[in-house]
Amino acid sequence: MNLNIACIPGDGIGPEIIAEAKKALGRIAKKYGHTITYTDLLMGGASIDAHGVPLTQETIAAAKAADAVLMGSIGGDANTSPWYKLPPELRPEAGLLGIRKALQLFANLRPAVLYEELAGACPLKEEVSKAGFDMLIMRELTGGLYFGERKTVMENGVRKAIDTLTYDENEIKRIAIKAFDIARKRKKRVTSVDKANVLDSSRLWRTVVNEVAAGYPDVALSHMLVDNCAMQLVKDPAQFDVILTENMFGDILSDEASMVTGSIGMLASASLNDSKFGLYEPSHGSAPDIAGKDAANPIATILSTAMMLRYTFDLDKEADALEAAVKEVLQAGYRTGDIMAEGCQQAGCSKMGDLIADAIEKTR
Ligand code: IPM
Ligand code: MG
Repeated sequence: MNLNIACIPGDGIGPEIIAEAKKALGRIAKKYGHTITYTDLLMGGASIDAHGVPLTQETIAAAKAADAVLMGSIGGDANTSPWYKLPPELRPEAGLLGIRKALQLFANLRPAVLYEELAGACPLKEEVSKAGFDMLIMRELTGGLYFGERKTVMENGVRKAIDTLTYDENEIKRIAIKAFDIARKRKKRVTSVDKANVLDSSRLWRTVVNEVAAGYPDVALSHMLVDNCAMQLVKDPAQFDVILTENMFGDILSDEASMVTGSIGMLASASLNDSKFGLYEPSHGSAPDIAGKDAANPIATILSTAMMLRYTFDLDKEADALEAAVKEVLQAGYRTGDIMAEGCQQAGCSKMGDLIADAIEKTR
């Protein structure tokens, strides 16, 4: 099979981690007899530097023409980078939001898994971490506060800013269906997270999720308020299987979930639309402080390519092999700086990529 992939290395550590993801993917392709065509595209800061805008129509068109998009990370240091002197709609993040909307990537899957090998990096007490956890945050990605109307006005000499949080039932229904479908392939539990004690959008969310749940009698649904969820994530993360939530809550909770796994450098993500098309990127940012130092952890990006193999290309065997290779390298005691532990061997970004690529060759 030929995999037609649009690639957005982006800013900061983006190009380094993408190079390692390509290395691993190349080795998978070779082993299983696939070919890969990459089209490299600019977005975020790199696109601002070249074209003055964070996302061009050309990038959108080329991304649409591919089977999937592999992305590194975008953005720079907001305190020092000239990109942040631009108006908000011209900053790097606007490119990311723009491509999510343009490609209708409404479902953002963020798995948070505590690897046995990394249990030591988990900041939770041992009696909590020893239960392990394996959850998936299903975050709505093209609605809510991120895409509602916003403005800043002057009212009677007072500055006032307005953001709008809206959801219609169709937006809620389609993301709920994704969550229930995926729960069916996992532990068959969905926790829908909202703020139904305050927000109308959350009350509609709850009603529609209940309606969708009626079609999935084999999946157990519970509802949880977002503040309680933030607490439960550090108190008892093992209780979660699929967490279904709206855009802003998902943004916050997914960072929290990643931190309890020990490092955000390990977490993959997939953003999907209603077809097999998807954009795959690590959950972490562009880490400008370590860019160009060969110090980044490429594992989240490599695991994102495994999600791509699974969700876009239906290549489960290949995805399994890639994930097994990552596990093997961790088991062998190699760690990047962010997950370094006593008695382990520290590896840079490119060395970690080499080790994983070599492990692919060895796994069956
Ligand atoms: C994420 C990021 C983005 C978001 C930013 C960079 C706009 O934090 O993907 O979680 O808030 O969605
Ligand atoms: Mg975020």
